[in-house]
Amino acid sequence: MTSADAENDQAAVLAPNSLFEPVRLGAIELSNRIVMAPMTRNRAHDHGLPSDLMVDHYAARAEAGLIVAEGTWPSVTGQAYCRQPGIETADQVAAWRKVTEAVHAKGGRIVLQIMHAGRIGSRHIKPEGVDTVAPSAIQAQGKVYTDAAGMQPFDVPRALSTEEVEEVIREHGRAALNAAEAGFDGVELHCTSGYLPIQFLCSGTNKRSDQYGGSVENRARFARDCLAAMSDAIGADRVGFRINPGNTFNDTSDEDSVASHVELMRRASQLGVAFLHIMRAADSAIDAFGLAREHFRGSLILNDGFDPESAAEAVEAGAAEAVSFARHFIANPDLVNRIRKGLPLAKFNRKTLYTPGPEGYTDYPTAAD
Ligand SMILES: Cc1cc2nc3c(=O)[nH]c(=O)nc-3n(C[C@H](O)[C@H](O)[C@H](O)COP(=O)(O)O)c2cc1C
Repeated sequence: MTSADAENDQAAVLAPNSLFEPVRLGAIELSNRIVMAPMTRNRAHDHGLPSDLMVDHYAARAEAGLIVAEGTWPSVTGQAYCRQPGIETADQVAAWRKVTEAVHAKGGRIVLQIMHAGRIGSRHIKPEGVDTVAPSAIQAQGKVYTDAAGMQPFDVPRALSTEEVEEVIREHGRAALNAAEAGFDGVELHCTSGYLPIQFLCSGTNKRSDQYGGSVENRARFARDCLAAMSDAIGADRVGFRINPGNTFNDTSDEDSVASHVELMRRASQLGVAFLHIMRAADSAIDAFGLAREHFRGSLILNDGFDPESAAEAVEAGAAEAVSFARHFIANPDLVNRIRKGLPLAKFNRKTLYTPGPEGYTDYPTAAD
């Protein structure tokens, strides 16, 4: 390499990249705009207790401007998957505190994704006597892996009474409070992928006749009220939500997905929540990012299918305040450093995504190793 090449190389390394500009999402200050998207990895202990492996996993990725930690149940009724963590009990709060302290010690920021799965559940996963609930008693087509009995169809859910819906909303407020007590910088409500908030929002899964069903205003009320309860608990400037208009995952169908999501974004804007984590459905013609810019007044995190170049372009163009990566963070704990230095990205092993133990979770090396 000649000295001119070395200089060019250095210039490439130091080229301004909008991903490395600090930004605020409400009250949360990010040192860069590279967000780690939430990923369920099934490494918690029994009773939804976060494990020390999770501490290591998140701490290793703390250079992200923000980590959105994996979908976590606000109450055990909302558990979807084996070895999925909760944020309901004092023990869970104490165990999560180890995660947030490790991330903060490295200068990182971390919010928790609150995920009530509703009808996406199985009695083979939850403790005995815990029901699977939903807006209406309509079973989701599909199966879920259970440690106890292998692949199982989703339960036929029990429809929540109006009083029970209100209690589930209060649970979301308590979950946000618990997350703050555990040291999280904020929370993100999971409003996509066929879980409870989207079961209420979509006409295919919501056949209710009370104030939580029927019109699009009524179907958006559950997610809106959860966001309000979370905002009351910890401040709207520490609350965000995640949507994916047009997404059909987990047997989701809606007569007008755009209208439903626009209504939700409008109501969330009125609450003043800090950020919207907006995904685009691969097989949909909906311009999700454009809709989000038009109808949501807070900050945007874009997601799905970005690489370092397209993410930088999106931020540069002002399409969003930040971009999130999920899969690239699996095998690249030092993803931020690799992007900064233009280093190649490693590929992850699909077989160890959801298996217990460190393999494929905490044993991916950094580029310098
Ligand atoms: C292993 C795995 C687990 C996931 N778990 C969650 C989750 O808990 N909550 C969620 O909102 N999205 C979840 N997702 C979706 C990702 O956050 C992200 O939206 C998706 O992978 C697309 O982003 P990417 O192209 O950067 O990977 C998961 C994805 C993967 C690969």
